[in-house]
Amino acid sequence: MKISNITKSVLGCTLFLFLTMQGVHGNDFPLFPPIGNLPPVAIPPNNPQTAAKVELGRKLYFDPRLSGNNWISCATCHNPVLGFTDGLPRMLGGPASKEGGRNSPTIINSAYNELQFWDGRAATLEEQALGPIQNPNEMFETLDNVVKKLSGIPGYVKAFKEVFGTGVTADGIAKAIAAFERTIVFANSPFDKYTLGDEHAMSESAKRGMNLFNNKAECIKCHNGPNFTDNKFHNIGVPADGPLKEDLGRYNVTKVETDKGAFKTSTLRNITETGPYMHNGFFPTLFEVVQFYNGGGGRSENKSSLIHGLNLTGQEAADLIEFMKALTGELVQIKYDNAPLTFTTLPRDF
Ligand code: HEC
Ligand code: HEC
Repeated sequence: MKISNITKSVLGCTLFLFLTMQGVHGNDFPLFPPIGNLPPVAIPPNNPQTAAKVELGRKLYFDPRLSGNNWISCATCHNPVLGFTDGLPRMLGGPASKEGGRNSPTIINSAYNELQFWDGRAATLEEQALGPIQNPNEMFETLDNVVKKLSGIPGYVKAFKEVFGTGVTADGIAKAIAAFERTIVFANSPFDKYTLGDEHAMSESAKRGMNLFNNKAECIKCHNGPNFTDNKFHNIGVPADGPLKEDLGRYNVTKVETDKGAFKTSTLRNITETGPYMHNGFFPTLFEVVQFYNGGGGRSENKSSLIHGLNLTGQEAADLIEFMKALTGELVQIKYDNAPLTFTTLPRDF
């Protein structure tokens, strides 16, 4: 009995290895989930997507009235025109537009994140959404006051009634924004098309870059799976920059010594649109990022053992960048009620 169980698990493992090795375009590290096309977004059972909810979420996302001075919306820092970021090394927020310690990450494909924020301190998009509204360095508003303000706007009262059957609530705000964010899915990149069999979708340089990504450059060890992230935290030694002398990252959440200076592995999808790079925006370009990895990352007592010098040639570094460029896709969200998503108009009309 025991033996047959072992045999079964060995067979199972072999099959698993075989299957992962069959995964996209062979890699030397078959234990890491292969990069590939994105699956459909998982929708939590307690917050089903409806057209009206997504539309309400869109309005809230672009509405500066969610902030203390009615100036700052989610889109101020996660602006669709700037790859759903602010294009700055570190965010500017609060009543005096003060520079914060961290870079505004893109919300593109945030529906696939297992944890939100650079340190993973929120589990879901619903949990995340109310954070920035109340953060004194971001939108500096209280939930009570937002609910009060929105309850005085007939369009919102009507929409909340229709979507949730209630008046304006903080819970409803969070759910509607999260539902909207789940539609911000970018795919159909040259890499996706290539993976689906279009040999010409990627340049020869990008194809060589993909091979390096999976093998010699070892990026696959952390940037793996369909969204190019293991959803884990690593210290790669990014130097401190900006107002914070030191950012302990994941340690702030877990208090585990080895998490000091560890940050969430970022998605690399649409990476050309979302610079500057890293949790504190230290690197302005992908060229500098690749130089950094090639030189073995930064200096930190706690640096991941997966980070070491790579000996990439100039051509190889260029190929790796070409591959990353091939990860920029387009918005493929499901169009509810066939209304095109407009990103620029603020909902002043109601
Ligand atoms: C003043 C700038 C600013 C505003 C306004 C803002 N954010 Fe952010 N957002 C950030 C920064 C900076 C982070 C990263 C913070 C961290 O990791 O500690 C972040 C993180 C996030 C994340 C996590 C993404 C990831 O990959 O981990 C999501 C989702 C998000 N914001 C959505 C929103 C929503 C929704 C709103 C509006 C309710 C909003 N943000 C308002 C700057 C801002
Ligand atoms: C040990 C795991 C690990 C390996 C290996 C790794 N990365 Fe990363 N990568 C990360 C983490 C963690 C971050 C965020 C670090 C931070 O902000 O401090 C990151 C950030 C990045 C960013 C910036 C993303 C953004 O939105 O700011 C790029 C680009 C990147 N990596 C590319 C690569 C490439 C190319 C390789 C291979 C040469 C690679 N990475 C290898 C873990 C890894």
